[in-house]
Amino acid sequence: MNENVRPETMKRIETREQAEAFINEQVEAIRKQVGDGKVLLALSGGVDSSVVAALLIKAIGDQLTCIHVNHGLMRKGESQQVIDVFKEQLGANLIFIDATDRFLDKLAGVSDPETKRKIIGKEFIDVFAEEANKLSDIKFLGQGTIYPDILESDGVKSHHNVGGLPEDLDFELVEPVKLLFKDEVRQVGEALGLPLSMVYRQPFPGPGLGVRCTGAITRDRLEALREADAILREEFEKAGLAKTVWQYFVIVPDFKSTGITDGKRTFEWPAVIRAVNTKDAMSAAIERVDWDLLEKITDRITKEVSGINRVLYDLTPKPSATIEWE
Ligand code: XMP
Repeated sequence: MNENVRPETMKRIETREQAEAFINEQVEAIRKQVGDGKVLLALSGGVDSSVVAALLIKAIGDQLTCIHVNHGLMRKGESQQVIDVFKEQLGANLIFIDATDRFLDKLAGVSDPETKRKIIGKEFIDVFAEEANKLSDIKFLGQGTIYPDILESDGVKSHHNVGGLPEDLDFELVEPVKLLFKDEVRQVGEALGLPLSMVYRQPFPGPGLGVRCTGAITRDRLEALREADAILREEFEKAGLAKTVWQYFVIVPDFKSTGITDGKRTFEWPAVIRAVNTKDAMSAAIERVDWDLLEKITDRITKEVSGINRVLYDLTPKPSATIEWE
């Protein structure tokens, strides 16, 4: 039997009871696989790695070490949430690396999207490997592989797996959710008691805000992007859109336009809002966001975010546009 193929007899996880039964099974399976060995896990704060971390903590507690790398391209508050949930609430061994300067220094002046992605991916692997090499006796690597990753492993994932893991580290993999679909991983996450904001987190690309701060990233524009994105997320959550819209975010492109604030002329960046719905990310339709909400967000962003004097809404489906701007 190929262990990477979901057996036809495997039921979909739809209820709390089914999620709990899965958790119990996996806790047993992890204990059996790992014994008294040590496991390392790269914890991004995304749904998949968070669920794997919570499962591993339940199964083997202290034998797990998590590494969270802040590449400086996280959304507002994200690294802090990882620390709060995993270190403070779940008591995990969590190594937190703030590698912001290292990433942003490497990215300075680089405007080509693919080169940016490669730098971010390679730097992530280097930082992770450096930390892993400082630890002794690690035998296993936890991974948040899910079933669509296995089904799509014909190249799609390689593009989307920037921020993935070092291949040269010699570990045996522990992949407890590899036969689950995303909605099932979420069920399991809820049953494990993870915060809903983590369990229902929208997809976020490995290179993070790096692909939304187009062209050569500068720290001031990145900060404007992070703040504008936080306002968009807050307002979408308040309006009840967080669970229904598949992906919504802000882009701050690398050009400026004229504006006027308090009677003074400005020359600042625009913030672009993008909100899309899709099943598989291969094509996407535009969310018809309520006009009043867009005006409210525009008002807040232009008033509260330094460096932005204009807000645009991206009306383009995929195709012709991709979901991300780079
Ligand atoms: P595009 O922009 O290609 O994106 O229409 C499709 C989906 O994939 C996400 N995406 C990425 N995810 N690393 C990732 O982990 C990446 O480099 C990457 N690029 C795009 C994007 O957010 C969307 O959900």
